[in-house]
Amino acid sequence: MAAPSVSTLLRLASRTRPRLAPCTRRPVQAHRSQQSAAGPRPSGVPEFAFAFDIDGVLLRSADPLPRAHRALSYLQSQSIPFILLTNGGGKHESERVADLTEKLGVTLDTAMFVQSHTPFADMDEYKSKTVLVVGGDDDKCRHVAERYGFKTAVTPGDIFVQYPAVWPFSQHLLDYYKTCSRPLPRPIDPDSPETSLKIDAIFVYNDPRDWGLDLQIVQDVLLSHRGILGTWSEKNGKTAFPNKGFQQDGQPPLYFSNPDLLWAAKYHLPRLGQGGFREALEGVWAALTGGKDNGVELIKTVGGKPHRPTYEFAEKRLIAHRQQMFRKVDGSLGHLKRVYMVGDNPESDILGSNSFKSPHETDWVSVLVQTGVYKKGEVPAHEPRMVVGDVLDAVNWAVRQERWSV
Ligand code: G3P
Ligand code: MG
Repeated sequence: MAAPSVSTLLRLASRTRPRLAPCTRRPVQAHRSQQSAAGPRPSGVPEFAFAFDIDGVLLRSADPLPRAHRALSYLQSQSIPFILLTNGGGKHESERVADLTEKLGVTLDTAMFVQSHTPFADMDEYKSKTVLVVGGDDDKCRHVAERYGFKTAVTPGDIFVQYPAVWPFSQHLLDYYKTCSRPLPRPIDPDSPETSLKIDAIFVYNDPRDWGLDLQIVQDVLLSHRGILGTWSEKNGKTAFPNKGFQQDGQPPLYFSNPDLLWAAKYHLPRLGQGGFREALEGVWAALTGGKDNGVELIKTVGGKPHRPTYEFAEKRLIAHRQQMFRKVDGSLGHLKRVYMVGDNPESDILGSNSFKSPHETDWVSVLVQTGVYKKGEVPAHEPRMVVGDVLDAVNWAVRQERWSV
């Protein structure tokens, strides 16, 4: 049987997904380039910019895509601002930027880089609390959280090493977890909840590697009394409470950084991402609680593209980067009229930019490439403003729209 096309998979998946405002394909209202009708713009400051997705646009897993370097170095040669906007993560921004600079052969900076968990760095309310950090390689995401200022970050691996019975099915990984775990700040002791390990927030930073262990630990925390591991909330299943008593007993909030069910890795077919883990968690949660049929939902916050907070965050970063680039220009830089969002995933890159209403009235123009999740000839679940072959085609098309002349 032929493999289902990606758009079939995504269409199947999108049936269950919350809908953001649909968008009709709008032509790009581009203005004349430097010599716009309103006369010369201060010192050639472009009134447009770019936001580039990474996986499936610039890279396939760790390998740079063939024309990514040319696309970015052309923009740098023209002083046309751009940022990288990815649902990926798992390393601190500075590490990722150094890595990408080397791979893509263009000098990048954290000021022009937004990854899925970058907004977590602003969540000061949890920095003096105990947070559970899930996902990524080893305990790299814990280190990212600490560099964001989180004082006490615990991983499922830490819990497993100290209490292997918490998850019977990763015993073969115990030696591995011993290489990247730390002693817990408190023991798990349900008999003395006041001194037992208590989780105040759960952050899924990146694609989990050991779904079984991570899923079990997250469930345990969400079903606990006040986030105290090893306990069970008496409110669970009680119809007197909202959500049938689930997550109604001071349990910690649950944050996901990236909704992607599928992403473009090295393999020729898209792979399950953090969104796949969340769907698995939702499935087990529904089985345990009775789920929607029983009036129970999994209360959570999902960040990343296509969600508005990520685009607001990215636009702010792009505007600040543009101001930094042209800081020597006298007077105002003029309005940033258009941002070309170049992505490979209709569900995140295209839906996100199509539905983003910029507080600066900047027009986010969605451009879909065929080098990642989306494949030539498929009908994308969300209609982009333009479909092109790859990232260089996207840049060439956009600068033509802008009549940008060297
Ligand atoms: O885990 C990363 C993946 O979900 C997609 O990343 O760069 O295509 O937004 P990106
Ligand atoms: Mg992508």
